[in-house]
Amino acid sequence: MFKTRMTELFGIKHPIMLAGMNWITDPKLVSTVCNAGGLGILAIAHCGPEDTLKLIREIRKLTDKPFGVNQILIGPNAKENIQAAIDEKVPVINYSLGKPWFVDQVHAYGGKVVGTIAIARHAAKAQQLGCDALVVTGHEAAAHGDVATSLVLIPVVAGQVTVPLIAAGGFYNGRGLAAALALGADGISMGTRFTVTKESMVHENYKQLVIEASEQDTLYSNVFDGMLGRVLKTKAAEKMMRSGFPMVEAFKGAKEVKDFMKLSYGKFIVMSFQMMGQEEGQPLWVLARQAVGNRRHLMAISQGDVSEGILFAGQNVGGIKDVPSVEEVIDRTIAEAEAMLDKIQKERV
Ligand SMILES: Cc1cc2nc3c(=O)[nH]c(=O)nc-3n(C[C@H](O)[C@H](O)[C@H](O)COP(=O)(O)O)c2cc1C
Repeated sequence: MFKTRMTELFGIKHPIMLAGMNWITDPKLVSTVCNAGGLGILAIAHCGPEDTLKLIREIRKLTDKPFGVNQILIGPNAKENIQAAIDEKVPVINYSLGKPWFVDQVHAYGGKVVGTIAIARHAAKAQQLGCDALVVTGHEAAAHGDVATSLVLIPVVAGQVTVPLIAAGGFYNGRGLAAALALGADGISMGTRFTVTKESMVHENYKQLVIEASEQDTLYSNVFDGMLGRVLKTKAAEKMMRSGFPMVEAFKGAKEVKDFMKLSYGKFIVMSFQMMGQEEGQPLWVLARQAVGNRRHLMAISQGDVSEGILFAGQNVGGIKDVPSVEEVIDRTIAEAEAMLDKIQKERV
């Protein structure tokens, strides 16, 4: 057992978090992680406020343990989704990209705010804005890590802030948890590992592709959804890399975002420039490309479409070789971390 600042802050048994993943972190996966002693996080960027409420209430039927939501602040419906989570007094609000305007509201009901960062400079700022903990995402991660690897980023950030840190990017077992604690983190967040579990809704085709992949089999580029990110190296992903900027698809994505946000073309362009002006802001054009990435992501995880779909995946695919239950993942991660730390202790002279 580990008692760290992460377990104390959230009132959980193990210092392990389920990373927010659109569609994948459904109430079943979130509640299973919570019931196994970790912190389950429901990604809500693909939802509107009604769906957000519905999913939160479903989780509450499945677990009485603490859980959280994850929202990209620059996305459509971010304000409404966050408000829905606050109205429901969700214990942990995890955000990425953007400035949290809701810290006082969350603290007022005893909730915690967790910022996600991938660049050390953003860590001090997030702490200053009132974050209770930070997810620190390294280059190895699935989806949107930046250029610094976990090995470098975690100790750099640990030297700059005092809030608890949750290491993300590359973690899939107990060796990783032990290493993260040594690097200055208080626990780990895992995405790719939890996608390949019995309870994960990810299509069997993709679970199998992850199991067959080596640590070399991911691609890192901004062609997939407009932001630098990592996906599993499949024929579809390689085709996107070769054809570069997906102009036609991006225009379709722009229209989807415009319609989703009920904007005129004029308002869409004005908002796009306003968003570019913010430090971590992204033009709506990036959101349009995100819509492309999201559509292909959904094709992969729900239909198992290996020719057109893309799956965000981390370099840790090289170490993921089975489909255990969530409980097995958590229990063996803790047991292996304890064994590793005992071994190191015994080897000290
Ligand atoms: C299949 C998959 C989908 C993901 N979707 C999202 C997402 O929708 N939004 C997000 O902020 N991060 C997303 N991520 C990134 C995770 O939140 C997390 O940062 C990452 O998985 C950590 O790295 P790891 O995969 O090496 O554990 C996704 C990751 C995976 C594996």
